[in-house]
Amino acid sequence: MARVPVIAGNWKMYKTQQEAIELLMKLMEMNETVSDREIVVCPPFPFLGLAHQAVSHSNIKLGAQNCYFEKEGAYTGEVSVSMLKSVKCSHVIIGHSERRQFFGETDESVNKKIKAALAEGLTPIVCIGETLAEREEGRMMQVIKTQVEGGFSGLHKEEMQKLIIAYEPIWAIGTGKTATPEQAEEVHAYIRKLLADGWYGETSESIRILYGGSVKPENIDDLMEKLNIDGALVGGASLKAESFTRIIQFQAKKGSN
Ligand code: PGA
Repeated sequence: MARVPVIAGNWKMYKTQQEAIELLMKLMEMNETVSDREIVVCPPFPFLGLAHQAVSHSNIKLGAQNCYFEKEGAYTGEVSVSMLKSVKCSHVIIGHSERRQFFGETDESVNKKIKAALAEGLTPIVCIGETLAEREEGRMMQVIKTQVEGGFSGLHKEEMQKLIIAYEPIWAIGTGKTATPEQAEEVHAYIRKLLADGWYGETSESIRILYGGSVKPENIDDLMEKLNIDGALVGGASLKAESFTRIIQFQAKKGSN
């Protein structure tokens, strides 16, 4: 089953409002004719409203970097899914490893956030991935399995089809150390098999699994040739129009490496 590739940019806690709009303007101009892949940018919360106005007539979709699972209430500092919807976000990153590491997110909170996002019609981009120690101790697949089972617990097939998974080995994030296409493909294929064997059968063939962790212009083409790699979640290299555009405009023949 053909899966439409997704290239998503995670801006993390970078940029001022003016820089954000300038970057969006350049991205729109440089990628105007791109139509066979989805482009998503995830700026910080304060810029989402203006960012929407900037990209609303373009092929660039807007995502947030996090959300809270409650609908509304006395939750100082949190942002609900309906707020994101009201500024026309279509995507939301959930369970990024930095949120798990620094802000106490767990598979349980990830699960609640996924359900909240899906209930409002947003597309969750759900991040999973192992640490270097877990990989070196041979626990990588178990860690991934636990995250998949916990994070996606109770989701129906139709819901799974609407979300996007991002495999991001923590040791590759912001380190310049990318997983090789073979290392990434091994885990992507494993995730798809877990989903197929566990609960979702053929549905797993339509779920998009992105790779994230030091994706750059130099490695995107090789990564995208792998059968189970359906796109990328890009941090550092999404902060400049030139490098992100090169990644968006990857060229790959599926299955040729
Ligand atoms: P990176 O970040 O591309 O800077 O490694 C990826 C991510 O954290 O999503």
